[in-house]
Parts: sequence; structure tokens; C-alpha cells
Amino acid sequence: MRSAVIFATVLVVGTLAGAAEFTKDGQLVMPAQYREWIYLSTGMGMTYAGGGSTPAHPNFDNVFVNPEGYRGFVSTGKWPDGTMFVLEVRASESEGSINKGGAFQTTRRGIEMETKQNGKWTFYDFGGNNGTGKPFPADSPCNACHSQNGAVDNTFVQFYPTLLPIAKQKGTFKETH
Ligand code: HEC
Repeated sequence: MRSAVIFATVLVVGTLAGAAEFTKDGQLVMPAQYREWIYLSTGMGMTYAGGGSTPAHPNFDNVFVNPEGYRGFVSTGKWPDGTMFVLEVRASESEGSINKGGAFQTTRRGIEMETKQNGKWTFYDFGGNNGTGKPFPADSPCNACHSQNGAVDNTFVQFYPTLLPIAKQKGTFKETH
């Protein structure tokens, strides 16, 4: 009984602190409170293939990092073990309510995640699903694009305006293009 209480407490504290939780078969459990993490930036209709134009209703992607990862980055310019990112994709609309120009965000279309554990980054895809995310193999396109083009240790700090000056100041920023 006592150990059950201790176990439950550790679980709750772990979840609040933003520690990764896995199912027995190695899938990452989607952190329910990721929207209480640190917000980094929003991309709008971002494409990478070239020749792309912004569609009439571009998706937005909102990037969040867990508080421990963020604090480690602020003090060292590097991501500590235990860092987790969520990229939340949302549909957009315009001309709703009083809005006449521009675009605003609506329903969630998908979630992608990335964690750093024992010095290794792993990517996960949740699709539109709220539950668990399957890890991609280490040679996935996710790993390839992130490791080649991410300005700091696999991540796209070049697109996160509050982190970019920190990485430059700490000397961890890599010019990728
Ligand atoms: C062709 C390049 C490319 C590929 C392939 C790619 N990404 Fe990304 N990813 C990006 C860019 C660029 C950003 C920055 C988004 C922004 O600024 O809003 C990003 C951001 C992210 C982030 C936020 C943290 C970070 O690293 O900056 C996560 C999580 C993420 N991607 C997951 C994935 C997953 C999972 C896959 C594979 C299914 C994937 N990505 C494939 C280019 C890529």
C-alpha cells in the first residue's frame, strides 16, 4: 500500500516535471500537459522541398519544449538528456468571427515528438492520435534532415527567436546554410 502511494507520487511528479514515459513495447506516451511547457515558436505553411508557395490555408506548427530541457539550454546552449520536444500541427482559417485578413489556428492535425536520452535523439509520430507514438528508426528522414540542417544538436534553433541569441552567445550555434 505504502509503496503504491510512493509509486503513484513519483509518477505524478515525473509527469508534471515533464519526464518521458514509455509503454512496455517502447512507445512514447504523449505528455498530456505539453501545452504548459515552454513555447518556442510557430511556423506557418513551412515547406522544405523548394518551389513551394504558401497555400490559402497553411498549417501552423507550434513548438514546445519541456521545462528541464529549456533550463539546461538557457544555461549551457546545449540540450541536456531528458529534453523533449512537441511539434503540434494545426489547421488554419481566415475570415471567421471579426477576422478580415490573415489567418488563425483551428483544429489539431497531428503531433510529432523528439526526445534526447543517453545522448541520442529519437523521433516519434503520433498522427492525429492522442495516445502513444512509435519511434522512427535511427536512419529515418526525420533524423537525416534534423542532423544535417538543425543549427543546434539536431534542433532548428535557427527558427526559434528567443533561443537563437543564447546559442550564439554560448558558441553552440552551427551555421547550416
Ligand atoms: C526536410 C526536413 C525535415 C524533416 C524530414 C523533418 N523535420 Fe522536423 N523540423 C524541421 C524544421 C525546419 C523544424 C522547425 C519548425 C518550425 O520552425 O516551426 C522542425 C521541427 C521539429 C520539431 C521541434 C524541435 C526541433 O527539432 O526543432 C520536432 C519535434 C520535429 N521537427 C519532429 C519531426 C519528426 C518526428 C519527423 C519525421 C516524421 C521530422 N521532424 C522530419 C524539418 C524537418
